[in-house]
Amino acid sequence: MKLFSSPTSPFARKVRVSALELGLAERLELLEVSLSPVNPHATLREHNPLGKIPALLTDAGETLYDSPVICEYLDALAGGNRLWPASGPARWQALRRQALADGITDAAVLVRYESAARPAQLRWTQWTDGQWLKIRTALEALEQESLDGPFDIGAISVACALGYLAFRFPEERWEERLPRLGAWYTAVSERPSLAATRPA
Ligand code: BEZ
Repeated sequence: MKLFSSPTSPFARKVRVSALELGLAERLELLEVSLSPVNPHATLREHNPLGKIPALLTDAGETLYDSPVICEYLDALAGGNRLWPASGPARWQALRRQALADGITDAAVLVRYESAARPAQLRWTQWTDGQWLKIRTALEALEQESLDGPFDIGAISVACALGYLAFRFPEERWEERLPRLGAWYTAVSERPSLAATRPA
């Protein structure tokens, strides 16, 4: 299998962490691409019309995207219901957490593009503030939850969202306001899958 990815993409990291947790990392060949919304990648677009990473080329010749679909595919390859609780409240909790965490990451990536790629005279402070409101409100919601328990797709998604904030926005220092979430993140960051994929 081949994964279009980049070493700093938080959503590609989610896939790489999932593959490591499932024991499938050695079957994943990384195809590293450099892209942005204003610098699309021609080969990637042939496989994913949205031109986004991560995108997985399966051994059967299919292309799968985006990270929730790829991670669930890997889970199925590994036997199923390893990172996805099979049913009941645990399943819905994991899926909701994945949505919440991916929403944090989406907003953080948009802020990153706004500050790193958009010309200064075109930046819109209120829009950026709106993204930060989403991120901060979602982090506060996570502080109210106990994330202890299986390192499932919900927890993986939260860890990768927090890792992206730590990587691109260390000055945010959310862990000073949210000690329970901070302690959880410090503990899970020791997992080999997260340590091996930390963006440099
Ligand atoms: C980043 O380096 O911040 C990044 C890379 C790929 C996708 C999104 C963000």
